Amino acid sequence: MQDLISIRMRASFKNAHISGAERICKKEKVSQIINELLKRPKFYDFISIKTEEVKEVEFIKMPSIRSFDFKSVEEARAFAKALLENAGIKKDIANNVIEIISKGAAFGKNMRGAMIIDVDSGVRLEENKEKGVRTIKVDWEDRDSAKQILLSSGYKITDRALDALALVSKNIRCDVIAEVCWSDDVDYTTGYVVVNKTYYRINPMKNFGDPFGGRAYFIKAENLKNVINCLREKAFLVML
Ligand code: COA
Ligand code: AMP
Repeated sequence: MQDLISIRMRASFKNAHISGAERICKKEKVSQIINELLKRPKFYDFISIKTEEVKEVEFIKMPSIRSFDFKSVEEARAFAKALLENAGIKKDIANNVIEIISKGAAFGKNMRGAMIIDVDSGVRLEENKEKGVRTIKVDWEDRDSAKQILLSSGYKITDRALDALALVSKNIRCDVIAEVCWSDDVDYTTGYVVVNKTYYRINPMKNFGDPFGGRAYFIKAENLKNVINCLREKAFLVML
């Protein structure tokens, strides 16, 4: 296969992160994709777009999707905890992780990446508690047709959910056993849990206006180095 390029955009305003996105494309599409990514953040005073050659890429399947709506954040979070517990994560560990995200996992602020949790002890394994670990080098093989097919199959899939689904698909391949996430965006209340290779969209994981959100990856402690290497270095394209 010919070389592909990872294009990663991040934008901020007054030093606060506003928007981030990644695409993997063929060389001849780079300028088109950069133009698309430039339009993605609604406002910013700083934008960075970097490109990196991707030598090898693996094709992977996305997980199955299920959606659940609840009347309250309490019910939604109870459901998220139950999913984690049913997947073998101890109740107090699941409760604690959700509590930490809800209060700002970086000493009362949002992290810039994901927490890494030892699935057996609940201990946080990420070296830097403010930065965490960010999954990169993943995209859809054909984003437009994936969106169309998912929409026509009855999934209310947004661009944001499509991006989350690509990240999740990669994380599963990097030995992340379970994951919980909701956005730090004050206007976006849908979060998710991934267990047993299924992506459970859950709404509302927080109330409108709540500035806290975050991500946690549950892993086996002995896999830490390999998981981080996989999340940062291996490239994947996701197929339906
Ligand atoms: N949140 C907050 N700050 C971020 C950030 C994020 N998601 N991504 C980057 N930054 C800021 C940080 O200050 C970072 O410095 P740090 O490494 O000390 O934390 C700085 O930008 C440099 O980041 P960079 O090394 O250029 O980012 P990257 O190569 O790891 O790429 C992105 C990261 C931007 C591609 C990734 O964060 C992203 O947004 N991916 C898309 C995720 C997605 O699809 N989300 C939507 C659905 S959930
Ligand atoms: P978002 O859904 O983009 O609002 O992200 C929710 C949280 O996930 C953020 O607060 C970060 O802690 C974390 N995060 C953002 N981007 C990534 C990434 N690429 N990989 C892992 N975690 C991330």
